Amino acid sequence: MKIGLGSDHNAHSLKIQLCKHIEELGHEVVDYGSNDSCTAVDYPGVAFRVATAINDKELDRGILLCGTGLGMAIAACKVPGIRAATTHDVYSAERACKSNNAQIITLGEKVIGVELAKKVVEVYIESTFPGGDSARKVQQIVNQEQAFYAKG
Ligand code: RB5
Repeated sequence: MKIGLGSDHNAHSLKIQLCKHIEELGHEVVDYGSNDSCTAVDYPGVAFRVATAINDKELDRGILLCGTGLGMAIAACKVPGIRAATTHDVYSAERACKSNNAQIITLGEKVIGVELAKKVVEVYIESTFPGGDSARKVQQIVNQEQAFYAKG
């Protein structure tokens, strides 16, 4: 799987550790920064780039990191077609994929420890969307979004 990984400066350290972990799991990582923890990076731009790359089918999924995970999720969800969820536990990470078909999960370095973050990411990446009832509900979200944009 090709995974886009991006952070702001508040989550640079977590990004480095998750990058290594995702590669060790056998996946390809595309790094969208940050490049260090000292240079301020505004999280919305990173979220928009990863979300757009998913829409353009350049990435299979995205992992976005900031201090809380919240800003990244809010920003990524502004890109039409994207479902991003903040997940700090393995059950939510699994359901973000299996129930919500989220293309992106987000985590906060100020919220979660590294070992749990690795497990959360691992469970998310290894989950697949089963379709079925969940597909019907996700389609309702897609329909609402499309109706909104159709209004112009
Ligand atoms: C961290 O406090 C915050 O400013 C930023 O990294 C991100 O969490 C925003 O949502």
